[in-house]
Amino acid sequence: ARPLAVAIAGLGTVGAGVAKLLRDNAELIAARAGRPIAVTAVSSRDRTRDRGVPVAGLRWYEDAVAIAADPAIDVVVETIGGSEGPARALVEAAIAAGKPVVTANKALLAVHGAALAEQAEARGVTLAFEAAVAGGIPAIKALREGLAANRISRVAGILNGTCNYILTTMRERGLQFAEVLADAQRLGYAEADPAFDIDGVDAAHKLAILAALAFGRPVDLGAVHIEGIREVSALDIELAEELGYRIKLLGIAKREESGISTRVHPCMVPKAAAIGRVEGVFNAVVAEGDFVGRVMLEGRGAGAGPTASAVVADLIDLARGRLTPVWGAATDALSHAPSLPMEKH
Ligand code: NDP
Ligand code: HSE
Repeated sequence: ARPLAVAIAGLGTVGAGVAKLLRDNAELIAARAGRPIAVTAVSSRDRTRDRGVPVAGLRWYEDAVAIAADPAIDVVVETIGGSEGPARALVEAAIAAGKPVVTANKALLAVHGAALAEQAEARGVTLAFEAAVAGGIPAIKALREGLAANRISRVAGILNGTCNYILTTMRERGLQFAEVLADAQRLGYAEADPAFDIDGVDAAHKLAILAALAFGRPVDLGAVHIEGIREVSALDIELAEELGYRIKLLGIAKREESGISTRVHPCMVPKAAAIGRVEGVFNAVVAEGDFVGRVMLEGRGAGAGPTASAVVADLIDLARGRLTPVWGAATDALSHAPSLPMEKH
């Protein structure tokens, strides 16, 4: 069969990881996708930088948005980042041009997800974003498909790999967070602006996406209580440890009688509890459904390999023709219902 022609916009940690995975597992991916998946075009700012993957022979776009008009491209992978600027312009242009989009961009989805979903559905185009929440954990599929029959009462978890890596390393080595942040950046875990990680905004973006899926309502980011890990000291972590606790940055969205409450803040969790044992760059996503009970998924929440794994899973779905409405069962609610009141805690 004809290869699925993919353009990758943004050849940083994630974009280059996607190119590498598509190259290294090409045969297996083609078998599972029913056809080869080939990167044929790319876009990045600096043409001279070594990306660790060969780009010679690929069409190179100086202006990422122009990819949307390329008739030879079947799917756009957006791994530039940011809720505005070229990422938003490209995703909107691709949808308008009838091209499916796979994105890892949680900031874009948390801010503009409901509008983009409406545009994608009006155009009959897939907007896939498995990589946007919890890196390699298939959290979107689990919530949208695996738990589709349940009324969800709570969705929560460790949603930022950088923070969990920093908190774990601070405990293990007795360091302050600023000393560990540079490591997280070097390992490709942190956002371009790491304040998004350590101030809890990135976790809030992911929580907003999970809550929209779980409760079928758009989440007002302004109503999410957000507190990051800047104020957590090595001494706090040591004292918590002595008491039998670990400090974790949690995101929690709960259905309450009065509405949906959403919050992100550091919590003390028992170190023997399953969530207390999620360490380093690992994330956990916990959901509670009325028939399934409690479900917890754990895996690497950031970095090139895990994130590429999620992006390529979406590409395989697209190649196979498995087209899921953007928000699954939540689509109608997101497009048409007024949002439930949000409680600030
Ligand atoms: P990077 O900063 O490593 O990569 C961003 C890439 O975008 C760079 O290659 C950069 O080009 C390119 N870029 C920037 N502006 C433009 C532009 N105007 N036109 C074309 N290309 C542009 O980020 P990440 O790979 O870490 O993150 C990408 C996205 O994935 C973000 O939305 C992030 O939130 C998300 N994400 C990241 C994860 C991670 O673990 N890192 C995990 C899950 C999601 P150049 O290289 O030339 O400077
Ligand atoms: N900066 C993010 C994190 C990347 O550390 O979790 C994964 O979304």
